[in-house]
Amino acid sequence: MFYLKRLQEHQKIFQRSKFWLGIFIVVLLCIILISIPPTLSQQPVVLNLLMTAPDAQPWKQFLIKDFEEKNPGIRINLIEGPNATNLLEDLYTSAFILGDSPYDLINMDVIWTPKFAAAGWLLDLSDRMTQQELAAFSPKDVEGGRVGGKLYRIPMRSDVGVLYSRKDLLKQAGFQPPETFSDLLKISLALQQQRKVNWGYVWQGRQYEGLAAMFVEVLEGFGGFWVNPNTLEVGLDRPETLQAIAFLKETVAKGISPPGVTTYIEEDTRRFFQSGQAAFLRSWPYVWPLANAADSPIKGKIAIQPMVSNALKTGGSCLGGWGLGIAKSTKHPEEAWKAIQYFTSEQAQRQFILSAGYVPSRRSLFTDPEIVAKFPYYPKLLEIEDKAILRPPIAQYDQASDILQRYLSAALTNRIAPESAMKAAAAETRMLLKTRGSRE
Ligand code: GLC
Repeated sequence: MFYLKRLQEHQKIFQRSKFWLGIFIVVLLCIILISIPPTLSQQPVVLNLLMTAPDAQPWKQFLIKDFEEKNPGIRINLIEGPNATNLLEDLYTSAFILGDSPYDLINMDVIWTPKFAAAGWLLDLSDRMTQQELAAFSPKDVEGGRVGGKLYRIPMRSDVGVLYSRKDLLKQAGFQPPETFSDLLKISLALQQQRKVNWGYVWQGRQYEGLAAMFVEVLEGFGGFWVNPNTLEVGLDRPETLQAIAFLKETVAKGISPPGVTTYIEEDTRRFFQSGQAAFLRSWPYVWPLANAADSPIKGKIAIQPMVSNALKTGGSCLGGWGLGIAKSTKHPEEAWKAIQYFTSEQAQRQFILSAGYVPSRRSLFTDPEIVAKFPYYPKLLEIEDKAILRPPIAQYDQASDILQRYLSAALTNRIAPESAMKAAAAETRMLLKTRGSRE
């Protein structure tokens, strides 16, 4: 009886001390948690961003490190994708369609916004920037990010098609820079005949988005058009389109362009030109710093100019460019906006342009003394940019581009006669625009 009583007393004491021990542990844990600095207790927010591998290099060298230093609670996870813009678009699109997109920031080519916005994949950024803040950017770049009056993409960098030439060879042979398509052919052939260079002209001829970008310039130079975004009229079966195709075919038929040109994307053409094998190259401004790098065989030997055009028509360069949007599915819209503000800021763009030679989206940088000292042709680039032509800003752009790419590639590689190819391309495009409704 006595033992039983003692045992019950012990149990009571044990339970009381267990209670106090529990309280003690809880209090201790609270003290530990409160005393840990917030930076250690909180995981940084990670923003996922996908871009083409060549584009990613200058981001990795400076931009991301600087942003993360200034914003210790945010990390940018940069994923490198394929080189061709349409393949990158496919990756973003399939991620959105599967419904669980891992991307927070969307690095968008200027041609993607109408489709991405119409599909409801992007956050509306209209209230995030004032009209005055937006006025610092090139108007065409801002327009490229607007759909149905709302803003979905802030321009990060612009882009315009340009013509590069070997100014050393032109000078030796006594030629002025070409102004027309026939000048381009004539000078190329002459330089090839004088054995100054193996090939005359390289351009992007593979069946991909770059083919469409290159083609709108030739089309414009012959006075033609692809799709009028206001009326949805299709110009692919007009005589100007056939003249544009005839010019490109002539470059191959006369041995001015290498036969492989119909399989080349930007980087293939840059390597070809940079190795000294061609007199002219159509590409984007990113080529300049690479072709002028210390180990480049053509360093200091090149000039840059607007795309040539048929003497009687106005020529034009294609407007390209990339900007940032925010995925509607992101859990971190505020952090994503902070990142956009930084990446599109004047200071970040200046560094980015100085290291990569890209085209600014902020107008003041085209004439910024530090930038002009390194890239003297930038003020000229602003003039080219202001006259640049947009690929049709319609929600069905990727399908319209796919139709053009398929038939144009077939015509250029002699699989279908140009006239039949363009008749079919025009008919399919008209059908697409009719069945999918009007402009977004
Ligand atoms: C460049 C341009 C982009 C274009 C692409 C075509 O990246 O900036 O707008 O679509 O080239 O290859």
